[in-house]
Amino acid sequence: MRLRVRFSLVILSLILLSQVFFSAAYYYIERRSEMGLMYQQAMQSVQLATAECHEAMVTGDWGTAREYFVALGMLPAVRHADCMDAGGRILAHSDPTRIGERNLDAFGVAEGVWQVSRSVRLPGRGAGLARIGYDAAELDAQVRGRLARTMLVLSQVGVFSMVLGLLAAFLVARAQTRPIEELAAATAELSAGHLDFRLPEDARRDELGLLRLKFNEMAHRLGELDKMKRRLVESLTHDLKNPLAGIKASLQMMLDRNAGPLTAAQKKYMESSLESADRLWDTIDGILDAMRLQAGPFPIQLEDAEVEALVRPAAAGLEPKAERCGVKLKTSVPKGLPRVKADCELVQRVLGNLLANALKFTPSGGTVTLRAEKDGGTVRFEVRDTGAGIPAEELSRIFEPFYQVSETGSLAREHGSGLGLSICERIVREHGGRIWAESEFGKGSAFFFTLPAA
Ligand SMILES: Nc1ncnc2c1ncn2[C@@H]1O[C@H](COP(=O)(O)OP(=O)(O)OP(=O)(O)O)[C@@H](O)[C@H]1O
Ligand SMILES: [Mg+2]
Repeated sequence: MRLRVRFSLVILSLILLSQVFFSAAYYYIERRSEMGLMYQQAMQSVQLATAECHEAMVTGDWGTAREYFVALGMLPAVRHADCMDAGGRILAHSDPTRIGERNLDAFGVAEGVWQVSRSVRLPGRGAGLARIGYDAAELDAQVRGRLARTMLVLSQVGVFSMVLGLLAAFLVARAQTRPIEELAAATAELSAGHLDFRLPEDARRDELGLLRLKFNEMAHRLGELDKMKRRLVESLTHDLKNPLAGIKASLQMMLDRNAGPLTAAQKKYMESSLESADRLWDTIDGILDAMRLQAGPFPIQLEDAEVEALVRPAAAGLEPKAERCGVKLKTSVPKGLPRVKADCELVQRVLGNLLANALKFTPSGGTVTLRAEKDGGTVRFEVRDTGAGIPAEELSRIFEPFYQVSETGSLAREHGSGLGLSICERIVREHGGRIWAESEFGKGSAFFFTLPAA
């Protein structure tokens, strides 16, 4: 999941959580205050009922008081309202038919009824009682109805603030993640070898601003180190190549008997020295090539080339070596293949590298096959061997510069520098093609690359 989405979700969940908490607290407080209000209203009602009763007892005129109790009884939540004297005789009641009855249990309350009562005192006549009984379920429904209206308003406010929160979360997340995304893109540029890439100046001075600053410093330092490495390798290879050219020339002259006749043993040792010198020369060339290719775009001269004209010379160049190694080298190029857009010299180098690798890892008696086939709008080249193979987990790494498979190192005919495939990869990429390998460890490998048809 992208960082921006994750950021937005976290902010949004926090808003949601605080809303749920706030609503629950508000509901609880509101319910308590509604109950308190209800209690207050009930107490006021029973106080008025007491006053009516008291007045009727003093004046002996029960007309108004009895009307008042009947009116009380008509209120939706009131189950009963009455007034009785000290002996429990009902003097006024919401149900007038009950006047005159005796109620000996003044505080007995029926189930589901919530009752408030107050005593009515008359000097010398004991204490009477005024009571109002409410339907508890009805009161509860009234409270819940009022709370439901409040919660509806609250949830509307909640939805509105969620929409605002979503917008705010998105904006905050974008502001926070954009510099990180820029850094990720810049790191990708660096790892692709563009060491001169820099992030534009930024006014922010927080941790992300500092990271940006440090990134540019690091890129600058890397660029400097790369230049240093390049200069060092260039001067080293130059210093190595000059004396090596002298050694090669001298050896060749001696082998050509310019310095007199050679014994068979001398000839053998000189040939082996010249072969080693040639290998060293190739390695130095490989390093120089790899550095040149890494440095950035390099000139390629594309022309419409016959596949046959690419394959034959590459195979012919390695034919003598294959014979020496006892490996059968086969080529297969079907008739009628389209021409390809290629820099012939570079593509022959790719084929030469792949064939040299195949020969290097194929034991005597094995076979190396070079094939070309039409594949959609491209021509696919294949170099297949019956050699050591490559473990599956290393197949993706062998195209990295200097990478060599340690398990098969001892099986190689000669030691290389691990640069050949990285050079091939770069050349094929510059042609707009693709290169890859398949292998079964211990049984053999197949290297493929494609070139666009002309
Ligand atoms: N046909 C093959 N069979 C088995 N392993 C191979 C084959 N081709 C390449 N490899 C493995 O991939 C590694 C990298 O190959 P690459 O051509 O880049 O370097 P190299 O041959 O070791 O040296 P260089 O080509 O620079 O002389 C080799 O060292 C070897 O471990
Ligand atoms: Mg190689």
